[in-house]
Amino acid sequence: MHPQRTAIIGGNWKMNTDRASGLALAGSIARGVQELHNAGKRVEVAVFPPFVYLPLISEALCAASSRVMLGAQDVYHAERGAFTGEISVLQLQDVGVGTVLAGHSERRHVIHEGDDQINLKVRAILHHGLRCVLCVGEKLEQRETDQTNTVNERQVRLGLRDVRPDELDRLVIAYEPVWAIGTGKVASPEDAQDAHRHIRAVLADLFGKDAAAGVRIQYGGSVTAANAAELLKQPDIDGALVGGASLKEADFMAIVRAAAQ
Ligand code: PGA
Repeated sequence: MHPQRTAIIGGNWKMNTDRASGLALAGSIARGVQELHNAGKRVEVAVFPPFVYLPLISEALCAASSRVMLGAQDVYHAERGAFTGEISVLQLQDVGVGTVLAGHSERRHVIHEGDDQINLKVRAILHHGLRCVLCVGEKLEQRETDQTNTVNERQVRLGLRDVRPDELDRLVIAYEPVWAIGTGKVASPEDAQDAHRHIRAVLADLFGKDAAAGVRIQYGGSVTAANAAELLKQPDIDGALVGGASLKEADFMAIVRAAAQ
């Protein structure tokens, strides 16, 4: 983690929690983050609950005047209209969402979203002034055949097509190797750093070195309280996107504390 970038930790709850457990989890994370800020620590934290609980969690975070940012796990690119079952950026904004994931590996590989669709989402999110977390990452067979950097580069370039340099301050990249997500197999800090360095080089090629140095790149894939600190020591790892371990307050807050500067 470079001192010029503030670490950012996201808790992706996926299709987990219900009203009561989500509220309890958000409440305790809000208290934990407040304590860190009171102690003068610097770290950004976001939670990504399921769509249906966003208004509920939003109200709870507002009532607690929390610094925890509310995130959505996905979005549809159009603003409104006949798109049954979909949710727009405007609707997310209306309930207090400040950050949105695009291209999460489960959207790419379970729901079969393609790079073009993901790019439309990225542009819609940034256009409306929200923060976008573009997720990229290689599958196991791609890593085994030495295609990690090629795959990440393609997903970054296609995902960011027609994104303007002035929108970059709202962009976060999450590098999440597919084989590491939900498997307990975390990338080694060195392998993760290699992938992050390459992604930053791609950003530099697209937007210039200075702009690329300002973009935060999170690592995701089986991050736990036990392995977070080692990953976060790497110069190009600026935070974590956490799935399983984000559902337990103690585990998630241990990761947040490891990232706080
Ligand atoms: P995991 O999920 O931490 O459970 O591996 C990470 C993610 O999908 O963002």
